[in-house]
Amino acid sequence: MTGRAFATVAGITVPLLAAVFGTTASMAQVAPPAAAPAEARPAPPPEFTKVCVRCHPSDKIVEGRRYPAQWDQVLEQMVARGAIATDAELDAIYDYLVAQYGRVAINTASADEIAQVLHVDQAAAETIVQYRRKNGAFADFEALAAVPEVPVAALQQLRDAIVFQAP
Ligand code: HEC
Repeated sequence: MTGRAFATVAGITVPLLAAVFGTTASMAQVAPPAAAPAEARPAPPPEFTKVCVRCHPSDKIVEGRRYPAQWDQVLEQMVARGAIATDAELDAIYDYLVAQYGRVAINTASADEIAQVLHVDQAAAETIVQYRRKNGAFADFEALAAVPEVPVAALQQLRDAIVFQAP
């Protein structure tokens, strides 16, 4: 599954993101928070090694967590800078980056994003969204953990990926 908003068509980048978000602001504006220890993560997929590590070391790429839309923007910028990849390769890289180095704005994110970033199943993600619709924004982790039937232990593991204020 992928949530990438931009696609390359015959090598031309379609900047849908800029249209959706009304901005092409530099990624550097938002300092990403520190990522969790690397040893807790699976090895990157071969697409990542093939496409991304050609121009800079991988620790430069994954020094912090980013929202899915920000990862989409990173990929778009790398293609613009000369990264060579098929759409399928970009999808695989995007899925890896979002799952391992994603952040989620828990009070506005879709169920898909919650599932992908927090590694919970779709049903649990839907439960969170339904609860939010009914009860309003989550103030903090404890409020989120109080949602009936959410996998609290799983969320706890990715606590540093959860952002409570709107992005
Ligand atoms: C053709 C060379 C090239 C390839 C291939 C490439 N990059 Fe980059 N990347 C760059 C350059 C040049 C910079 C530095 C740009 C800057 O400092 O603004 C950069 C910077 C970055 C940054 C830091 C951006 C920031 O604003 O903090 C990230 C993250 C990144 N690349 C991710 C990736 C990913 C993911 C891939 C694989 C899809 C990739 N790069 C492939 C050239 C490349």
